[in-house]
Amino acid sequence: MAIRINGNETAVPADPRVSLLDHLRETLHLHGTKKGCNQGACGACTVLVDGERIVSCLALAVQYEGRSVTTIEGLNGESGLHPLQQAFIEHDGFQCGYCTPGQICSAVGMAAELERGMPSAVTADLCSDAVVVTREEVRERMSGNLCRCGAHNGIIAAISETYAEAAE
Ligand code: FES
Ligand code: FES
Repeated sequence: MAIRINGNETAVPADPRVSLLDHLRETLHLHGTKKGCNQGACGACTVLVDGERIVSCLALAVQYEGRSVTTIEGLNGESGLHPLQQAFIEHDGFQCGYCTPGQICSAVGMAAELERGMPSAVTADLCSDAVVVTREEVRERMSGNLCRCGAHNGIIAAISETYAEAAE
């Protein structure tokens, strides 16, 4: 039984009660994924599973046998930082930095949702094939990832610059 994490096959924990977050941090020492609230409210623990964003504190590791998990450590390619990581640097998109890995993983998952044409609560035209990506869309879609300090505008700017075709 194995979970693929950042391209590596890893053993599923023997204890079925272990969360995916604790498995990443405590067993695999992938400390990029952060534990904030540990109850699904802050988004600090967001990772990608087969490209979809989830909060890993509410997920049991054993559920992900055979799946492919990507954490912040697995986002950059051989050529360097992921474009969104670079944008966070350029837009000063972090202050404490604790929420940052979750913000970035969540935004990568958000971009995949946009590509699939998934509407949000603020999408104006539900009949259109392509969602017009405004800053309002980005704020709504990233509302599950909290920044409690002063970096929120920089975070939205970094994500908008990277993904929005029509950010206002
Ligand atoms: Fe998982 Fe806050 S630590 S949502
Ligand atoms: Fe960490 Fe804002 S950058 S909470």
